Amino acid sequence: MEKSRGRRRLRRVLITVAVVLGVLGAAAGGGFAWLWTRADVSTVGKVDFNRRLAVPPLAPSTVTADGTRVFDLRMQSGETEFRPGRATPTWGFNGSYLGPTLRAKRGERVKVRVRNALDEASSVHWHGMHLPAAMDGGPHQMVAAGGSWSPSWTVDQPAATLWYHPHPHGATERHVQRGLAGMFLLDDNRSRDLALPKTYGVDDLPVIVQDVRFDGDRLDHGHSFLANTGFLGDRTLVNGTLGPYAEVRDERVRLRLLNASTARVYTFGFDDDRSFDLIATDGGLLERPASLDRIQLSPGERAEIVVTMRPGERTVLRSYPWRRGDFWEKRFNGGDDSFDVLQLRAARTLRPSPAVPAALGEPGLELPDGEDAAHGRYFELRRSGINGKPMAMDRVDETVVRGTTETWTVRNGGDMTHNFHIHDVQFRVLEVNGRPPEPELRGRKDTVAVPMGTTVKLALRFDGPADPDTPYMYHCHLLSHEDTGMMGQFVVVDQGQRAGTPGAHGDHGGTR
Ligand code: C2O
Ligand code: CU
Ligand code: CU
Repeated sequence: MEKSRGRRRLRRVLITVAVVLGVLGAAAGGGFAWLWTRADVSTVGKVDFNRRLAVPPLAPSTVTADGTRVFDLRMQSGETEFRPGRATPTWGFNGSYLGPTLRAKRGERVKVRVRNALDEASSVHWHGMHLPAAMDGGPHQMVAAGGSWSPSWTVDQPAATLWYHPHPHGATERHVQRGLAGMFLLDDNRSRDLALPKTYGVDDLPVIVQDVRFDGDRLDHGHSFLANTGFLGDRTLVNGTLGPYAEVRDERVRLRLLNASTARVYTFGFDDDRSFDLIATDGGLLERPASLDRIQLSPGERAEIVVTMRPGERTVLRSYPWRRGDFWEKRFNGGDDSFDVLQLRAARTLRPSPAVPAALGEPGLELPDGEDAAHGRYFELRRSGINGKPMAMDRVDETVVRGTTETWTVRNGGDMTHNFHIHDVQFRVLEVNGRPPEPELRGRKDTVAVPMGTTVKLALRFDGPADPDTPYMYHCHLLSHEDTGMMGQFVVVDQGQRAGTPGAHGDHGGTR
């Protein structure tokens, strides 16, 4: 009697437990299925292309008596109508979203008067620019709310498509997502004389690509908890335009592609798989054009391509699913996603354009080949930090002797995608997993994708002025990774000099 009652109770308990587990299991499975189906995003065939592509204005400048070209940038908040009649709160430089295109020539002295009209501190970093560390605009050159900062330097590097964006430690992702980014184009005699499309906004178009997600009238910056890369949006903007088209009146058009997204990797190509000429990478022209039908750009990377158009046709710049990458990367980190990014509409008659020149950049590209390297360094990329250490503002991780060539070996032995960006220099990619790089990595680079299981070897030389107290950064350019510690600091010193103490000055910067 006693025994059977006990058994009945046990059975009831077991059944209850089984039912609860069953319900939980079904919920988890359903939840997973929901996340699974939600994980893939495609806008292919679904974009109306009913808004003319905005082209950021060229920033006006004045030239002072001593020949310095002076620009003004004001960081401000505002509202942007990405969709008609719906104002979204955003940030921008000299406007409500993104910023004007700065443009200067090699040899010119430039000065940018930055004013921060936001109600929080930020900074402006010149990504890809070779300049003194104190002008770099990293986390040691913060501009206080209401403050200003006026860096100046002499442009001393080949023609290139560079860009600028904030770099406040721990908040870069948020500041860039709100809209603080712009292009900085450099010209030189070579780029001036080459028969390449070069009329800004006509046959030479900036293409700043960002992914966004709207939550009502606001931009939603939330991360999906299965995506370890950071924020992934469900639609793309080009130059802040949703559903953009550009009218083309020339046979050839040059697109300056910039991946200004915070985490997403794009694999650009055209909807009809046509090939295009890759003419430049992050830091300038390639030695010779490369004919490709896809170009992959991780956050921060640039590529200049020349596309040939037929009269009257329409073609769409698309981002395709990744060719490589593991299951998780593809499913949850955007690897399977695809986007219709920008439609090109050719006029019924096109002005003829000269063929793309067979020789572009200076032979050797002003890059070291690594053979005379004085020093080799090793960087292990981990989500928790580089070489096992999360970023610390007051710690110098590497000390580099000015004027010497080094090789940097960067390895991603972890389980997610990263990339690697180095301030102040352009580098040569010597090897990817021990092999010579593909054409898209044979140019001047400041940011390189380092997918899982990949080791890249770079050659670089720091020619800038020594400043033992002011560090430059190297970091993963997936901005939430950077913000949470995947960053390190290096100083450039003269032979025999030691690293100083960062944070001793310049940190609380921003004069009023
Ligand atoms: Cu584009 Cu350290 O940044
Ligand atoms: Cu940079
Ligand atoms: Cu990373």
